Amino acid sequence: MTARLATRILPAGSAAAAEAARVLATGGLVAFPTETVYGLGADATDGQAVARLYEAKGRPAFNPLIAHVTDRAAAQALARFDADAERLAAALWPGPLTLVLPKAAACPVAELATAGLDSIAVRVPNHAVARAILTAFGRPVVAPSANRSGHVSPTTAEHVAADLSGRIDLIIDGGATPVGVESTIVACLGEPTLLRPGGVPRAAIERALGKTIAGAPVSAADEEAPLAPGMLASHYAPRTPIRLHAGRIEAGEALLAFGFLLPEGAEHSKMTLNLSARGDLIEAAANLFSHLRALDAAGARAIAVMPVPHEGLGEAINDRLARAAADR
Ligand code: TXA
Ligand code: MG
Repeated sequence: MTARLATRILPAGSAAAAEAARVLATGGLVAFPTETVYGLGADATDGQAVARLYEAKGRPAFNPLIAHVTDRAAAQALARFDADAERLAAALWPGPLTLVLPKAAACPVAELATAGLDSIAVRVPNHAVARAILTAFGRPVVAPSANRSGHVSPTTAEHVAADLSGRIDLIIDGGATPVGVESTIVACLGEPTLLRPGGVPRAAIERALGKTIAGAPVSAADEEAPLAPGMLASHYAPRTPIRLHAGRIEAGEALLAFGFLLPEGAEHSKMTLNLSARGDLIEAAANLFSHLRALDAAGARAIAVMPVPHEGLGEAINDRLARAAADR
């Protein structure tokens, strides 16, 4: 058990970016917003800082981390890009896309952060606060979502504080994250493969590549041999049981709605939150994790979830909902 830290919270700004860089340089842990979700950052080149990060999250150390950098040139110091990876980076960086690539020979990222794999996950985020911190720090920053392992990812500084207060040094508060689901992960280690649906829809990946890609649908089998090691079926679990494809609401249930037409029994739900009353999947993704957290706190018997269309960001939303509903 590590000693409790006094976790400071600073509003985003140039002073906060400089302070974040200072804390990172001393091996500390800093949570900051990206366009997808809040990340918990550590100096990627400092094995002890990475070990501290796993400890703070309560995360199994076999689960490798994403290295965040300011641009493609910085990513090329960490990993080898084939033609497909070049196309994806050119079209979609900065943005909510993570590439899993062969590790470069002189890659300075700590072995622990890549869990001993010969591949590495790299991402160039598109969020002013994340970019200011990366620029001020000048080295790669590993950053998993800033939640305790197994919890829902945080989309506000308050979510981060609820999970990690006393366990990390600093939280930079930059407001709610605009995308709301984690980055799309594509492996380019041969034919490109979708490892995790996320903030870039599959169609945009396929457009940039000029071809279709093999996907990684959610299944209980993920538990046995996950493609992305962190994609355990029950990775995104609220405490309250989740009931998917709800056509009617039972007594004592809370409702996670989508669209303006609510199911039978909705008027009796313990609490109702709508991902998007106008049926917009981008708005729904941005609301997903904060609504799950709020409904989880309502003391309901279960959270009933209305069907969400499986197109655009719906693929990532349905992936996270299926994981939230998986047995654990
Ligand atoms: O949007 C995001 O990607 C956020 C923000 C903070 O950038 N980060 C994030 O990190 O979601 P995390 O650690 O929660 O998820 C990273 C995923 C895990 O499922 C991990 O197993 C996978 O990336 N991963 C990392 N390195 C990998 C590798 N070399 N091969 C396959 N999967 C890898
Ligand atoms: Mg995560």
